[in-house]
Amino acid sequence: MSAKAQLGEKIFLDQSLSGSGRLSCASCHNPAFAHGPPNALAVQIGGSQSNQAGLRAAPSLRYLERLGGFNGTPASKVEDLRGGLMADGRADSLAAQAFLPWFNPREMDNGSVADLARRLRGAAYASQFLTAFATPAADDSTLVTQASEALQALQVEDTRFHPYDSKSDFVLAGKVRFSLPEGRGLMVFSDKQGANCASCHSPDLSSSGQPPLFTNFGYAALAVPRNTKLSVNQDPNFRDLGLCGPSRTDLAGRTELCGFFRTPGLRNVAERKVFFHNGVMSSLAQVLDFYNTRDREPARWYSSADGQTVLYDDLPQSLLGNVNQVAPFGAQARRLSAQELADLECFLRTLSDGYVLGAPSFVGCN
Ligand code: HEC
Ligand code: HEC
Repeated sequence: MSAKAQLGEKIFLDQSLSGSGRLSCASCHNPAFAHGPPNALAVQIGGSQSNQAGLRAAPSLRYLERLGGFNGTPASKVEDLRGGLMADGRADSLAAQAFLPWFNPREMDNGSVADLARRLRGAAYASQFLTAFATPAADDSTLVTQASEALQALQVEDTRFHPYDSKSDFVLAGKVRFSLPEGRGLMVFSDKQGANCASCHSPDLSSSGQPPLFTNFGYAALAVPRNTKLSVNQDPNFRDLGLCGPSRTDLAGRTELCGFFRTPGLRNVAERKVFFHNGVMSSLAQVLDFYNTRDREPARWYSSADGQTVLYDDLPQSLLGNVNQVAPFGAQARRLSAQELADLECFLRTLSDGYVLGAPSFVGCN
């Protein structure tokens, strides 16, 4: 790795770069857990007193190197929106993204650029900035920007962030075959009249022949149920509406964008313990059940008031029309059988990194 990326690794692991002195990037994005959270919390805890719950589930940081910046213009239609980091696409590059956790009062909570610069100057690896960057940083803001560039270099150069060594990669390379359930699962995944997962989580090679990332980088409104356990949601007026805010601020007022979140890639999804932007689900089977029955059995997913199910209960009731109604959603979509759901899960389990040739399939997937 370049000197910049090596410096980036030191920064990524350094807990002293936080208001509490206890939180590094790796605390929420642990390399041993596919660069995702090492625990089953829906949202992680941060802040200078280590007592602030986050707004969203911490994602895996794998396979972000091909995700471009947000493409939106004021004239863009929501179906044409692509890219951007964070569930609402609000960071245009990995370097720009680093500023968000560093200064978020719920996360690393460095009070100011000056505070973070002081912590960087005091780090054991401070002299590595001079090796990594041609010109020494003349001021705090330049030093912090250099640190953000080092984090970007790490995530781009370090192949541990994108090893492309899942079973599905080995299958694409012709080195192994899927088991029958795994292969059937891919068919279910791609069936336009059925699960239709492929329409958003593209399983095909990219136009330039690169392995699939299982996302089209676009945005969709799935009406994931409100997570009533989140501390922010104790306020009935708080809603995380994705593209239209409140975390993202430049599209506030664009009500046609409310409820839309970026389609995440599905590599390593089986390693996660919580799912969706608010961590409301706790198993892959539950996620698949939701996709299959959101509109046929809404009472199983949404809260109720006065004995009535509040459909799509994390959206203002005036915006229910934003919600995606294409298969697998909508009352018309074909219901997936228990066998199809089990097969789908077997396929998703082939997307985890670190496959060893000859290793058995997941229990029940042979
Ligand atoms: C307290 C937990 C926490 C810490 C510490 C943390 N993150 Fe995150 N990270 C998150 C959460 C939560 C999100 C999703 C935020 C959102 O969508 O608004 C996220 C999102 C990201 C993303 C975007 C992923 C995507 O799919 O678009 C990147 C990149 C990232 N973090 C890198 C970092 C780096 C680099 C650091 C250290 C400077 C860091 N994070 C520190 C919790 C954390
Ligand atoms: C219309 C586009 C669309 C379709 C179709 C779709 N997804 Fe998704 N998927 C998304 C979006 C958007 C999210 C994030 C939603 C959120 O967090 O609010 C997501 C999230 C997920 C997650 C959670 C990932 C995580 O990191 O938490 C899984 C697992 C998943 N999808 C699997 C599937 C499967 C399996 C299918 C087919 C049954 C499917 N999806 C169909 C758009 C889609």
